[in-house]
Amino acid sequence: MKKNRPLHIIIIDDSKMDVQFLVRALKNGGFEPDFVRIDSAQELEEALEDKTWEIAISDYHMPNFSAENALKLWQQKMGDAPFIVVSGAIVDEDAVSLLRSGAHDFIRKDKLARLTPAIDRELREVEGRRKRREAEQAVILLNATLEQRVIERTTELQDSLAALKRTQNQLVESQKMAALGCLVTGVAHEINTPLGIGITATSHLYNATKQMSNNIADDSTIDLPTSNYIKLADESLEMIGNSLKKVADLVRSFKNIAVDQASGDRRKFYLKEQLEEILLIYNPRIKNTQHKVEITCPQDLVINSFPGAISEVIVNLLSNSIKHGFEDISKGTIEIIAIKNAGKLQLIYSDNGKGMDEKKVDRLFEPFFTTKRGQGNIGLGMNVVYNLVNHTLGGQITCKSKLGEGVDFTITFQA
Ligand SMILES: Nc1ncnc2c1ncn2[C@@H]1O[C@H](COP(=O)(O)OP(=O)(O)O)[C@@H](O)[C@H]1O
Ligand SMILES: [Mg+2]
Repeated sequence: MKKNRPLHIIIIDDSKMDVQFLVRALKNGGFEPDFVRIDSAQELEEALEDKTWEIAISDYHMPNFSAENALKLWQQKMGDAPFIVVSGAIVDEDAVSLLRSGAHDFIRKDKLARLTPAIDRELREVEGRRKRREAEQAVILLNATLEQRVIERTTELQDSLAALKRTQNQLVESQKMAALGCLVTGVAHEINTPLGIGITATSHLYNATKQMSNNIADDSTIDLPTSNYIKLADESLEMIGNSLKKVADLVRSFKNIAVDQASGDRRKFYLKEQLEEILLIYNPRIKNTQHKVEITCPQDLVINSFPGAISEVIVNLLSNSIKHGFEDISKGTIEIIAIKNAGKLQLIYSDNGKGMDEKKVDRLFEPFFTTKRGQGNIGLGMNVVYNLVNHTLGGQITCKSKLGEGVDFTITFQA
């Protein structure tokens, strides 16, 4: 025989007799009721401390209580758990009003056969409602976490997009510099041969003219126009020779910006010692000024890189600070800070000189960009620095500056 299904049930009824009928009907319908009988608000409240009730069956007319009040208390504690009204005498309007208030069914006492199918149905529905609520909760939770996840992913994407844009800009900049560098060194190479021939030929002609000029110095048979011509040739050739030598020097310096220039070997060295050595060598140029250079670098910081390239970079930066940044400043300060983190070295070079406006910062690394053309400057210093950092050291250099606010260079490379 099939075992009856246990049923944790509250029966709200003043008549013990009616309860017996109900229990019998439940047993006949396949339930094994585990129940309490209640006929007052206080008893119901006490019983509802236990939240494991599956269902309530309530009489309509009771001397101390009403189905309506019982339903309200039940709903407060049990939400929409099934509440069925079983009554002998109730008018239709009252039944409808109870159903409207949330009772799940109404059954007449003389139709008790309907009771257990109604309970079966309600238990199924309550289970359905529970599952639906769980699903809804899950959706709400998913939505909440989804939103959070979307926010997180969006920030991640924005970050990587920004990083990508930075890298792209660096790449474009680096390719621009490499192309400009190629152009300059290509031109330098092409000029070199004819220039060399010009220098050699001029030098020959100069020497021959000098010789001739010496030979005729005491010769009174030489007429005036000839001696004037030889004098002019002598002077002109000296000027041509000197100018060509200057051109040769310039052409040589153009070659400096070539990417593959030799810059010494990679080795391990103490960075602070190296920086101090650079200052010592550079010192004659700041000795007679009141400018100060401060180095902040751990004494025991060892890096694996190219000391020659680093020296050249620092010397260029120092010379620019003094020549340009401190042009109208007698007591300037230069700071060099070195930090190594996770195999990467960060060199921060700054001065508190006159700085640059945005347009100058934008063009700073271009070959031949100078604000002092005709005053012995050709504008290759920062381009050489750029190529050394990007190609020899395999790193990056950025410049931050505003007019009147000094300069800030950040150089980062694997070391
Ligand atoms: N520390 C600095 N402070 C202000 N201006 C600077 C500084 N460094 C560079 N500059 C500007 O950048 C230009 C380019 O520098 P650089 O390539 O070294 O060429 P050059 O020194 O021959 O002019 C300079 O002419 C100057 O205008
Ligand atoms: Mg310079």
